[in-house]
Amino acid sequence: MSAPALFQPLQLRELTLKNRVVVSPMCQYSADHGVPNDWHLVHLGRFALGGAGLVFAEATAVEPEGRISAADTGLYNDEQQAAFTRIVRFLKGQGAATAIQLAHAGRKASTRAPWLGGGPARAEQARNGETWRARAPSALPFTEGYPVPHELSREDMAQIKASFVASAQRALAADFDVLEVHAAHGYLLTQFLSPISNRRTDEYGGDRDARMRWPLEVTAEVRAVWPASRPLFVRISAVDGTEEGWSLDDSVAFGHELRELGVDAIDCSSGGVTPSTATIPDPKQHGYQVTFAQRIKREVGVPTMAVGRITDPELANAIVQGGSADLVALARTLLDDPNWPLHAREQLQPETLGDAAYPLPVGYAVKALKRPPR
Ligand SMILES: Cc1cc2nc3c(=O)[nH]c(=O)nc-3n(C[C@H](O)[C@H](O)[C@H](O)COP(=O)(O)O)c2cc1C
Repeated sequence: MSAPALFQPLQLRELTLKNRVVVSPMCQYSADHGVPNDWHLVHLGRFALGGAGLVFAEATAVEPEGRISAADTGLYNDEQQAAFTRIVRFLKGQGAATAIQLAHAGRKASTRAPWLGGGPARAEQARNGETWRARAPSALPFTEGYPVPHELSREDMAQIKASFVASAQRALAADFDVLEVHAAHGYLLTQFLSPISNRRTDEYGGDRDARMRWPLEVTAEVRAVWPASRPLFVRISAVDGTEEGWSLDDSVAFGHELRELGVDAIDCSSGGVTPSTATIPDPKQHGYQVTFAQRIKREVGVPTMAVGRITDPELANAIVQGGSADLVALARTLLDDPNWPLHAREQLQPETLGDAAYPLPVGYAVKALKRPPR
């Protein structure tokens, strides 16, 4: 009896994922000076023990001012690289493949952790008292109450692009299997893509091709240093949430360009360029963003990853089996149950009940609780 679609392996370049369950990147707002620590080891490590095929480290900044908050992880110095190397080694030791999402927050940088209320940080509220002036394609704030960012000069853009490349090289040195460029959620690359946030008058602003130019240049340069044997993903906001903004048609066009550049999977999220959610399906609906992954996969012919309130194993399996996406990424569900992949396997294929290699020693406890000896 073959495994359910969700538990079929997937080969991307020279990487074979043992199943299609991906731990979606999740900022922890718990780093000091960008360095991941024991919190990150435990947070990510638990998902590897729980059986996920691919574990993503959170949005990790390519330079200090690209951090969303002063407590974000970064990958721009040796100390951060060494700390990630330790985490990667542990995750791989537990049978998971590893990924990191490289990011720059642009005009959404220098904010407070969500549990401190979010929004722009004031020095006394920021980790280590750090705040800084954000930079963006145009001098337009994210929303009311946010500071006006500096408009990026061409030199600034070249420098940030070089930072993406340098962080990709560090990610390779740390031995991550998969690299993802974060072009979603209203952060810097999205700010270039969306006409809401990009009002540049040079060749990086204007029509869609011009707005895609810099994100595509960044992706191309990252692909050039990321080995041909390792997959590159890009997370996009398939729609930016506004009627007059970035649309799903735009994402299909962007997807074609990404595929040409050698991107191996498009990770389909939405929103974030403004607080508007007008064009985003109701996030309470299970699988609310799956149709984005489905259309991009079908029309671009590239593997996709679906994300967004995928909580039920049957739904997750149907997404893969039905060809809507090749991978499913889960965030909050896995926080709630890091053993979700093991439980999902048993639910989808009851004859495997008891076969799951539960992590030890937790495994004994879980098995004992679930299946007391008769
Ligand atoms: C605590 C937390 C942190 C997150 N941080 C990131 C991040 O670093 N990068 C990113 O692209 N998305 C981030 N997200 C969004 C998730 O990756 C995911 O797309 C979203 O939560 C929807 O999936 P879910 O319904 O399974 O939670 C975060 C979500 C949560 C709950």
